[in-house]
Amino acid sequence: MIIGVPRETAPHERRVALIPQTVKRLVGQGHRLRVEAGAGERAFYPDAEYAAAGAEILSDRETLLSGSELILAVQRLPLADIGRLPQGAVLIGLMQPAGAAEYVAAAKIRGVTLLAMELVPRTTKAQAMDVLSSQATIAGYQAVLLAASHCGRLLPMLTTAAGTIPPAKAFVLGAGVAGLQAIATARRLGAVVSAFDVRPVVKEQVQSLGASFVEAEAVGGEGSGGYAKELADEQQKKVLEAIGKHLPGMDLVITTAQIPGKPAPRLVTAEMVASMKPGSTIVDLAVESGGNCALSRAGETVVAHGVTILGPVNLPSQIPQHASLMYSRNLQNLLDHLVREGRLTVAPDDPIAGPMTLTRPEAP
Ligand code: NAI
Repeated sequence: MIIGVPRETAPHERRVALIPQTVKRLVGQGHRLRVEAGAGERAFYPDAEYAAAGAEILSDRETLLSGSELILAVQRLPLADIGRLPQGAVLIGLMQPAGAAEYVAAAKIRGVTLLAMELVPRTTKAQAMDVLSSQATIAGYQAVLLAASHCGRLLPMLTTAAGTIPPAKAFVLGAGVAGLQAIATARRLGAVVSAFDVRPVVKEQVQSLGASFVEAEAVGGEGSGGYAKELADEQQKKVLEAIGKHLPGMDLVITTAQIPGKPAPRLVTAEMVASMKPGSTIVDLAVESGGNCALSRAGETVVAHGVTILGPVNLPSQIPQHASLMYSRNLQNLLDHLVREGRLTVAPDDPIAGPMTLTRPEAP
């Protein structure tokens, strides 16, 4: 198979879909790899490493796209690129499926199969291909570093000649993939960490990381597939009460609560922000789906009552080398599942590829 890796074009995207190590493995399996010049540069993977791994480096994007049977990307390619792909090609990447109608229509006309990495099912078998999880792990880590660098206080307890500094208090809302990594990172930096989630089953995981679990009365927010479900009004009130009581003592707050397909639950109100200490920091990871904090703005830093509120987008891209490594391994595992005798097969009834498929050429 001829596999193409284009340079990412989305603003601020520094990741690359395949790293040289994966390229080498795919070349070893008999595939031809073509990488656009500079594709890995912003993730610190130079062209020379791709060439050494057996890839052909192409400066002409059009040649790369028109000659590849399988195109592996991080973000959606620009719409105009769809017209450059050969009929029958397969494009795999983060397709932002919720707003992809025009994109899907263009791919359909062109006879291109689109697979959305966001739609890898969260099942045990597909775990090794789950880019939302691998990238959320990075986001959870980076959120704490961001919060720490904006907070007016140190995180660890320090005993110095100038006196003893108590450890900072960090609070993590939502203990899924990003939240658990945020807890672990804040603990490693020496903060005293607490966390809250509506799914009671995560209490044990939170405690096993050395954090305390904040309880809210009458919460049982476990939905299907290991995800949370939306809370009834009465439960939501109890949750806000519990969070509101806990927030005034906190120095760092990382919010990661999400319910798939729904706007992010609002967990930190403007009044709660006003109750926090000046110099404290909130990082709202759910900002792109509406925000867990009423005052966060996507891509912006807001300061209210001396509290800094960050709404970062695409945090994984800020750690591009390891984010690309994990993304690349997820893709490699997906290809191990989908490629049979050198050919990529996207069967509609495949438990992993089926749910990922946004469009495929219709049978003649
Ligand atoms: P996840 O689904 O693994 O975890 C979300 C957690 O929120 C679950 O444990 C769920 O039970 C909990 N939750 C739901 N409703 C809640 C409520 N009312 N109160 C408390 N907890 C509640 O999701 P994951 O992968 O950890 O992602 C978390 C968020 O981070 C998502 O919004 C995701 O889009 C975002 N994200 C943001 C990035 C960025 O750069 N800004 C990068 C990666 C992820």
